[in-house]
Amino acid sequence: MTRVFSGIQPTGDLHLGNYLGALINWVGFQDRADCVYCVVDLHAITSPAEHDPTTLTQRTLDTTTLLLAVGIDPARSILFVQSHLHEHAECTWLFNCVAGFGELRKMPQFKEKSEGKGESVSVGLFDYPVLQAADILLYHADEVPVGEDQRHHIELARDIGQRFNHRFRDEVFTLPKAIHPPAAARVMDLQEPTNKMSKSASTDKGIVNLLDDPARITKKVKSAVTDSATDIRHDRVEKPGVSNLLEILAVATGRSADDLAAEYDGQGYGVFKAAVAEAVVELLRPIQQRYHELAADPAEVERVLADGAARAREVAAPTLARAKAAVGLLPPA
Ligand code: TYM
Repeated sequence: MTRVFSGIQPTGDLHLGNYLGALINWVGFQDRADCVYCVVDLHAITSPAEHDPTTLTQRTLDTTTLLLAVGIDPARSILFVQSHLHEHAECTWLFNCVAGFGELRKMPQFKEKSEGKGESVSVGLFDYPVLQAADILLYHADEVPVGEDQRHHIELARDIGQRFNHRFRDEVFTLPKAIHPPAAARVMDLQEPTNKMSKSASTDKGIVNLLDDPARITKKVKSAVTDSATDIRHDRVEKPGVSNLLEILAVATGRSADDLAAEYDGQGYGVFKAAVAEAVVELLRPIQQRYHELAADPAEVERVLADGAARAREVAAPTLARAKAAVGLLPPA
């Protein structure tokens, strides 16, 4: 059976970009693949500006609770926290000795996040994609459901796996490929539709959080930046704001963006935005309900994670042992 792996950072409150770009696919894969999903807390400590040690623990639990609420089913999928398995950090070291300085320096996310930070940027931020490669490759993942922004990281994981197998003459690692959704692989900020929707935006106004209440969602969608013309068509270059809303509506309704454009063109932005707002509210309503039920029992969430870590280790530990042997490290007696 196809093995699927993916990860998400524990920001606590996930947004519509996470959901449409990745999590919908995570849920869907459970029907046809062997799925492993990870809350990547070690990635979350790579940049001091985004890391608050007083909230990280709670955010990790809240993120797990949200994953359960969107439909990750621990009876079918492995759901665990990255730092619970030392194998991830250890495999990263083996890969550090295979990955090239040049290829890491070129990673778009590193370039973006390190800009203006000069020499103070952490080695962890630089090494971030190598840890991500370890996450994926330890589980022999064939497919990795992610948003478009992760494309380079998955390609790097593939390159590292291939180089390792070749250098140490053992097919230890399966080479993964990224899977993106047909629409909304890159959900844009509602206020700045040429930037992706992201927690690091300067204002919350352009971000629909999965736990925003209906009034807040409606307000954010209705004040989304579009443009001065009134036509509704799917054109990411000329009409980034309208196209973003069309893609969101497409996923929420299961219809195509072009189809929806044909329906709403001529009706004006007011009618169109009201339809998008309503669709998003209805899409998130059951998730929010389930979240509040699950949040009442944090012990159950921790139990899910303990079970997930044990099952994850059954896959990751033998992979790491084989990789260490391939490298020539002496196994303990
Ligand atoms: P993270 O936590 O930033 O995002 C989690 C998932 O959400 C997707 N995503 C988006 N998709 C569409 N539009 C957006 N605006 C948007 N924002 C986020 C991301 O593409 C991602 O799929 N490095 C990863 C986490 C990670 C990982 C892994 C992923 C660590 N190890 C192994 C896959 C496999 C990250 O920071 O995602």
